[in-house]
Amino acid sequence: MTTRRVKIVGTGSYLPEGVLTNHDLEKMIDTTDEWIYTRTGIKERRVARPDENTSDLAFRASLPALEAAGLSPEDLDLIVMATITPDTHCPCGANWLQAKLNASKAVTFDVAAACSGFIFALSVAEQYLKNGTFRNALVVGAEIMTRTVDYTDRSSCILWGDGAGAAVVIPASDGDEAGVLSICLHTDGANGENLLLPGGGSRTTPISHESVDKKLHYLRMIEANRSFKVAVNCFADACLEAVAIAGYTIDDVDHIIPHQANARIIQAMAKKLNVSMDKVVMTIERYGNSSSATVPIALDDAVKSGRIRKGDLVLLTAFGGGLTWGGALIRW
Ligand code: UT7
Repeated sequence: MTTRRVKIVGTGSYLPEGVLTNHDLEKMIDTTDEWIYTRTGIKERRVARPDENTSDLAFRASLPALEAAGLSPEDLDLIVMATITPDTHCPCGANWLQAKLNASKAVTFDVAAACSGFIFALSVAEQYLKNGTFRNALVVGAEIMTRTVDYTDRSSCILWGDGAGAAVVIPASDGDEAGVLSICLHTDGANGENLLLPGGGSRTTPISHESVDKKLHYLRMIEANRSFKVAVNCFADACLEAVAIAGYTIDDVDHIIPHQANARIIQAMAKKLNVSMDKVVMTIERYGNSSSATVPIALDDAVKSGRIRKGDLVLLTAFGGGLTWGGALIRW
């Protein structure tokens, strides 16, 4: 059975309890709260406990999403987890999540599209549901970015935090106005070196003393201010593309939920689109950049606070390492 459209019927999120403030960072590196806040919009970010793994965060985000959807883990057909920081590379992060949930019927795999991961994972679930292969899907963005951070590199270590967000997706019924109206995705592999986690893949396996000494297992940002400009354009282009595919204009959109990379990137995107910041959901001040988790965390935040209401047009947009970027327009 094929379906016209899929819809999100439950959201959830989980932020670990540990808080790393800008004032904490002042004691670790040569920086100030004022510099970090004015350059990034971040005041603090969350840090997972040493005994917490990415699948633990994903698990805690998934439970409220399933509850809101009225589904139990045993009902799940598919789990797609967007992450670049899985518990292990093999098995993938979604498998650990499946085991924790006891979702024994669910087919599971990860999608690695860095900060754009949630939108990429949503698009995968959308296709399986649309073509009738599966009846429902749990889409999760979960990361422990703080374990990839070089806390001697002041230009990038200030950005990252940990967290997870989840959404349950099912086919929309005939005549249902709610649902995912469009998704657009893009990749520029030729510029992948600019936002890179070089270690851990075939380039540097087996891990050696040399690769550790060279800090290859930490995330690197090269020419971050060039990425800044690229990000603004990609965010804005993805927004315009997603609304155009669905036959809308940017003025029709009620809420934009961007990946939380940098408050100034988001403000520049809004300016480029000529959209009021009142329409833009921001969580970066409290949580920093948790890569694929920021979009579903911000989405859940806006749903739980009552900011997103039934019938609203919600636009997700993201840009990240890879390079990857995309957008998704959803009628709530
Ligand atoms: O999620 C994926 C997508 N994310 C991105 O693509 C990130 C995009 N880039 C950014 O968000 C920003 O470029 C950063 C936040 C990473 C950096 O902000 P910036 O305004 O581009 O700063 P900058 O790198 O141009 O550095 C400006 C100055 C430099 O000093 P000089 O050379 O002007 O004397 C840096 O050394 O700020 C200095 N600086 C710092 N000062 C205090 C860099 N980091 C810090 C710091 N504290 N933590």
